[in-house]
Amino acid sequence: MALSHFVLSLLLARSVRATSPTWISLNLTAPVALLDDELAVNYVDVLVGTPPQTVQLAVDMQTDAIDVYSSECPFCPGWSFFDESLSSSYKVNNDRALNGSNTFNGTWAFDTIGFGGVVQSENVDLGVLTTISTNYSGLHLRNGGIGLITDTFRKTAFNRLIPGLISSGQLANPVIGLNLFPNNSKLTIGWLDPSDYVGEINWVPLEKNQEDWYKYNLFKIDGFSGRNGSLIPFGDNLLAAVDTFVKSITVPNNLTYFIDTNYTGPIWEVYEGFNIDPDEHQVSYPCNKSTNFPNVTETPPHPYADFKVHINGVSYMIDSDNNLIRPPSLFSPNGFCNVGIVSTSSQITTAPQSILGQPFLRSVYLAYRYPTDSCPGYFGFAFPKGANRTQEEISQRPTSTPTSSQCLSFTKPTSTPTVQRPAGPDSPKGSYQAFGEENVWVPLRGAELLVKGVWNITG
Ligand SMILES: *[C@@H]1O[C@H](CO)[C@@H](O)[C@H](O)[C@H]1NC(C)=O
Ligand SMILES: *[C@@H]1O[C@H](CO)[C@@H](O)[C@H](O)[C@H]1NC(C)=O
Ligand SMILES: *[C@@H]1O[C@H](CO)[C@@H](O)[C@H](O)[C@H]1NC(C)=O
Ligand SMILES: *[C@@H]1O[C@H](CO)[C@@H](O)[C@H](O)[C@H]1NC(C)=O
Ligand SMILES: *[C@@H]1O[C@H](CO)[C@@H](O)[C@H](O)[C@H]1NC(C)=O
Ligand SMILES: *[C@@H]1O[C@H](CO)[C@@H](O)[C@H](O)[C@H]1NC(C)=O
Ligand SMILES: *[C@@H]1O[C@H](CO)[C@@H](O)[C@H](O)[C@H]1NC(C)=O
Ligand SMILES: *[C@@H]1O[C@H](CO)[C@@H](O)[C@H](O)[C@H]1NC(C)=O
Ligand SMILES: *[C@@H]1O[C@H](CO)[C@@H](O)[C@H](O)[C@H]1NC(C)=O
Ligand SMILES: *[C@@H]1O[C@H](CO)[C@@H](O)[C@H](O)[C@H]1NC(C)=O
Ligand SMILES: *[C@@H]1O[C@H](CO)[C@@H](O)[C@H](O)[C@H]1NC(C)=O
Repeated sequence: MALSHFVLSLLLARSVRATSPTWISLNLTAPVALLDDELAVNYVDVLVGTPPQTVQLAVDMQTDAIDVYSSECPFCPGWSFFDESLSSSYKVNNDRALNGSNTFNGTWAFDTIGFGGVVQSENVDLGVLTTISTNYSGLHLRNGGIGLITDTFRKTAFNRLIPGLISSGQLANPVIGLNLFPNNSKLTIGWLDPSDYVGEINWVPLEKNQEDWYKYNLFKIDGFSGRNGSLIPFGDNLLAAVDTFVKSITVPNNLTYFIDTNYTGPIWEVYEGFNIDPDEHQVSYPCNKSTNFPNVTETPPHPYADFKVHINGVSYMIDSDNNLIRPPSLFSPNGFCNVGIVSTSSQITTAPQSILGQPFLRSVYLAYRYPTDSCPGYFGFAFPKGANRTQEEISQRPTSTPTSSQCLSFTKPTSTPTVQRPAGPDSPKGSYQAFGEENVWVPLRGAELLVKGVWNITG
């Protein structure tokens, strides 16, 4: 009796998960340029709740949590909110208190979360934010975020989306591919799509996370080089992290690079080389006519930041235009453009020694092999399809290949599932165009009750 009940529930369980292991390729948004005065964020469509609501969440490689902004959150910034009252699978998690404040607060809940109507996981831990005050001093992300990593220091059981898809057998492989190259930004889940990258994937094992480290999923890098190709003396045994919200590359000491033209290459001398902001210590290169040099009639040449990251014997160039060198802004001196190479915060006394932010992630293809029972986690690096790379760069070979190759051989999926986008509750009805954004519409309840006002954005 007990046994037949057990068999029956197994059969039922199997019939629910009848789909064969699969994968999905999702478009990401990528900023055309990294800008001094804007967050650099890549959004992906995530389906939350039953029936699914589409929310566009910021891809985050430094957390395992997913958070959405409740449509009941008056000052939450963004354009796609989650209405928990419309989801039949939404459950408040009474066992996990969100350690909120009066400027940032919400509720931990569980709900069904998936991608494109192809894969989904039930009872995923979900932070639903109901308060983000205009006073909140943290990052004002739009819409919420989707953390894609798994190995963090949570003390209690935590249902994560992708590990749930892996353990329920829905994914062809325990891997994701992230291509933030602006022209072809993609997130693939369950497969590394060869149409997203070129060259061999260079796999490096992830270090075991330590409580006093400032970032998760660190890995060893060989170092950095500039124009003359020699490794810049930033020290040995550098541990690096990737972070999608950081707009720079951080190194132990930015000046080790900037003060030596053997590394930087020539910097236009007429404006006396690079500039250092007296307060922020931000380095910038001449890039336009400058009112600081009224008597100079020449226009500076197009600046180029020559900077490469070396990982396991392979050197990865970091694109300069709109990337390491940001366009001029109110935050750069007149006629100069800020360069995204900065010193790692002195608050980081342990590790990492380097944070590889957006300029790096927009210049490489990143693969993440999730840690599973018998396999550790790995990052893999290749060159993004469509990027300006020479055959010589693409044909570089890693110094060493991981011994656990069975963890890194993947099954080629037999088909490409189609991404479906359900009609969300936030249709243009009752929506208003966001200031300065052509295609962004935000729902605005009770708008008819508001008195029309004029925003003085410079005030
Ligand atoms: C993804 O982007 C490609 C190229 O821009 C486009 O053809 C395709 O329709 C997009 N897919 C979805 C689901 O939006
Ligand atoms: C709660 O937040 C406060 C302030 O941010 C912090 O000092 C405290 O350690 C947090 N407590 C827990 C249990 O995370
Ligand atoms: C955060 O929200 C919870 C649940 O609504 C509430 O119990 C708690 O008092 C709030 N915390 C603060 C600091 O407002
Ligand atoms: C925001 O800051 C202002 C001025 O510092 C203060 O008066 C107000 O109470 C704060 N609001 C919240 C919700 O903390
Ligand atoms: C983007 O990709 C398309 C097609 O691959 C190509 O024609 C176009 O020049 C690319 N644009 C940039 C800015 O690289
Ligand atoms: C590159 O420049 C550094 C610093 O000036 C120097 O020590 C090193 O010898 C140079 N390497 C080559 C190959 O010229
Ligand atoms: C640049 O490298 C050369 C050798 O390649 C060396 O003679 C010279 O001193 C280096 N310049 C500086 C500023 O270190
Ligand atoms: C360069 O400077 C000129 C004159 O100061 C200005 O009109 C122009 O907008 C600047 N270009 C950029 C890209 O900032
Ligand atoms: C610019 O040239 C004028 C006339 O030649 C001179 O008086 C002035 O000091 C110069 N300004 C600077 C900043 O060099
Ligand atoms: C560059 O390095 C100098 C010297 O270590 C440091 O004082 C400065 O803050 C750094 N600048 C940035 C933007 O990290
Ligand atoms: C392509 O890369 C080379 C260095 O390898 C650089 O000199 C050139 O400016 C880059 N071109 C573009 C369009 O980014």
